[in-house]
Amino acid sequence: MTNPNIAPPNIAPNAAPAFAIPDNVFAETVLDVQHYTDRLFRFRISRPASFRFRSGEFVMIGLPNADKPVFRAYSIASPSWDDEIEFFSIKVENGPLTEHLQRIKPGDTVLMRKKPTGTLVLDALTPGKRLYMLSTGTGVAPFASLVRDPETYEKFEDVIVVQTCRDIAELTYITELVANLMEDPLVGEMAAGRLRLHTTTTRQVFERMGRVTDLMRSGKLFADLGVPSMNPEVDRAMICGSMAMINETKSILEGFGLVEGANNAPASFVVERAFVG
Ligand SMILES: Cc1cc2nc3c(=O)[nH]c(=O)nc-3n(C[C@H](O)[C@H](O)[C@H](O)COP(=O)(O)OP(=O)(O)OC[C@H]3O[C@@H](n4cnc5c(N)ncnc54)[C@H](O)[C@@H]3O)c2cc1C
Ligand SMILES: NC(=O)c1ccc[n+]([C@@H]2O[C@H](COP(=O)([O-])OP(=O)(O)OC[C@H]3O[C@@H](n4cnc5c(N)ncnc54)[C@H](OP(=O)(O)O)[C@@H]3O)[C@@H](O)[C@H]2O)c1
Repeated sequence: MTNPNIAPPNIAPNAAPAFAIPDNVFAETVLDVQHYTDRLFRFRISRPASFRFRSGEFVMIGLPNADKPVFRAYSIASPSWDDEIEFFSIKVENGPLTEHLQRIKPGDTVLMRKKPTGTLVLDALTPGKRLYMLSTGTGVAPFASLVRDPETYEKFEDVIVVQTCRDIAELTYITELVANLMEDPLVGEMAAGRLRLHTTTTRQVFERMGRVTDLMRSGKLFADLGVPSMNPEVDRAMICGSMAMINETKSILEGFGLVEGANNAPASFVVERAFVG
């Protein structure tokens, strides 16, 4: 017999969906929420036992607040081995999803479509020595997944994550994540001395300033990291940012002789949009 005082699995009593959950989505419980700025937050949800994905992929998420909920693409920021799912999110004023999503709290329900996809996966790159993960803003989210996956260090000797944001506070998520990663029993030892984080700002004064694109073009990025300029023989790259950032970064990498790859045709770099618009 069902006890009326016990909520059904994954649906908190204070957030019981008023609308039917479509068949092709999971309804998961919010476990943790952390706000970084008035525009950025991170949240973790329960992971359905049958949900499998490759580190770096994205999935569509929504809220059970309408008969036909708004779904948006989100990079999964947690690694494929994690028993929870993490997302790093923007808060867009009047954004159809994020004006509500930014108010979620532990116990609430988030909808997640069952099929993950994406090109920012290790399988889409040919073997190399050094992997660059180049991002702006929330484009760092897929890289938060990949830097926590042991496979990244099995395939590459050196891993360099670059994130350019307007302000210092926007760099907090990845900065804290990398610092904590070094203490992680599973990945910490593999990442030590091989994972490097290079954060830069463009508006607020910081110790490292400039767009990732300008820093690559001038060579300052490589000089600051103490590595040679990009070489298609050994260097591989993943790009995630705005459309303008992607286009510029792509042409810079192509100038170095790197070639764009995909799941069905691995090559020396891959790209994914961090948002539409
Ligand atoms: C492949 C893919 C992966 C994505 N992964 C993430 C992710 O991990 N985290 C995340 O926050 N968003 C991600 N997005 C963007 C996300 O799908 C939504 O656009 C975002 O959540 C805002 O939804 P919204 O309905 O509130 O506003 P929308 O109507 O979707 O967007 C309104 C406007 O806000 C701006 N905007 C939207 N998203 C962003 C963003 N992330 N950063 C800066 N400006 C933005 C754009 O100018 C856009 O036109 C991804 C998009 C794509 C295509
Ligand atoms: N972040 C904020 O504080 C803020 C506040 C209000 C509204 N918005 C709006 O929200 C949207 C997204 O803002 P966002 O800051 O998340 O993302 P964004 O505008 O894409 O900027 C993120 C970072 O990427 C840099 N960048 C922009 N274009 C680039 C390019 N072609 N190549 C390399 N780097 C590039 C930016 O540098 P630059 O600083 O040099 O552009 C910034 O450091 C924008 O439409 C923006 O107008 C943002």
